[in-house]
Amino acid sequence: MSESLGVAVIGAGMAGKAHAAAYRAASTFYRPTLPEARLVSIGDVNPEFGQAAAKRFGYERHDASWQAIAEADDIDVVSVVIANSLHREVVEGLLAAGKHVLCEKPLSDSLADARAMAEAARAAEARGNLARIGFTYRRAPGIAAIRELIQNGTLGRPLHFSGRYWTDYGCSPSAPMSWRYKGGPGSGALADVGSHMTYIGEFLCGEIQTVSGGQLSTAIGKRPLPLGAVMGHDHAAVSDAFEAVENDDVAAFSAEFADCIGSIEVSRVAAGHANSLMFEVFCENGAATFDQRRPAEIGLFLSEVASAQNGYRQVILGPEHPYIAGGLPMDAPSVGFGQNEAFAYQARAFLEEVAGIPESESLPRCATFEEGVRNMEVLAAVTESALNNGKKVSL
Ligand SMILES: NC(=O)c1ccc[n+]([C@@H]2O[C@H](COP(=O)([O-])OP(=O)(O)OC[C@H]3O[C@@H](n4cnc5c(N)ncnc54)[C@H](O)[C@@H]3O)[C@@H](O)[C@H]2O)c1
Repeated sequence: MSESLGVAVIGAGMAGKAHAAAYRAASTFYRPTLPEARLVSIGDVNPEFGQAAAKRFGYERHDASWQAIAEADDIDVVSVVIANSLHREVVEGLLAAGKHVLCEKPLSDSLADARAMAEAARAAEARGNLARIGFTYRRAPGIAAIRELIQNGTLGRPLHFSGRYWTDYGCSPSAPMSWRYKGGPGSGALADVGSHMTYIGEFLCGEIQTVSGGQLSTAIGKRPLPLGAVMGHDHAAVSDAFEAVENDDVAAFSAEFADCIGSIEVSRVAAGHANSLMFEVFCENGAATFDQRRPAEIGLFLSEVASAQNGYRQVILGPEHPYIAGGLPMDAPSVGFGQNEAFAYQARAFLEEVAGIPESESLPRCATFEEGVRNMEVLAAVTESALNNGKKVSL
């Protein structure tokens, strides 16, 4: 095992900062088994963003190109946190340079590129370099807890899944044009937040066999160009020039999972729902519900309780649930936590795998590029369904 790992993050935007902070925190969890993580560089074509993030999160330097990071001898591990259409070029370049790569979701903006990336990952892995994808929500303690309740028989087999991921970053017509509004059908809300919800659906209910009733809708057809660089969902100052929105603001579909049927609805124009990832899963012994707005609790209904006293109970997550014991500086019940911790668990899991720490002593491994391709195959099937009047598409 190497004595230290040099870390870089490419992309200093909304999620890039979460990765940058996560590598900083990763070694502070659980036991001190990780090699030292040297925080080396933040790479961003916008030097202002790169410099600010490097300073804020304590990285040694910032670089203005991914090539500089690929060529740097003091960097071993790189997160790729930039627009989906850029993932392939950067990930393949980093893997060819011998780096271990953690790529953001969705794997790419096209299935063909995603499959090529998985091929490059297989070749890199044969040379000893890892390529993984960050489906952050598998690290949410509440979602992991519900999965355990399904798998250990407490809830038992899922019968019906209903998932919604409503966001509002595009609900204002004056929200500036950005990379998120460009690309073919299905590359909008479906790829952006539908990738998460679809992954969670399969995480809990098994592989999707068919999708049907696909719908994609562009609710706001044009957006003003920003006057400067825009980070994440920021509402920056805009000009009076507009460009057409190319992809979906709202998407919905039904799915046949391995274990049950379900439906998923996602949006980026859901006013009042900045980041509402919510689902309910109904199982043979009860039901569970999760809402990202209250990430430190789950709702649980168990059918075994006498019906006169029964109902959904609020279960506050604590050290008896996944990730929490040792995974928070103060890991007492009811301390509260949220989405940023999930990035830190993800960084920890990736560093553990890179460092060669056995899986039995690690957090659950990060998802593979094959899983990233699988996720995109489901999204492509939804798009095919939507483009064909909702027809049923098999996977
Ligand atoms: N897991 C999650 O919860 C989560 C949340 C948000 C975004 N994401 C994913 O993270 C990725 C980035 O999203 P974001 O919201 O952070 O985007 P963003 O627009 O906020 O940031 C992207 C950054 O990349 C920089 N950039 C552009 N081209 C570059 C290049 N060639 N080399 C280096 N830097 C470049 C931009 O200057 C910008 O700072 C996407 O794949 C997105 O799907 C994941």
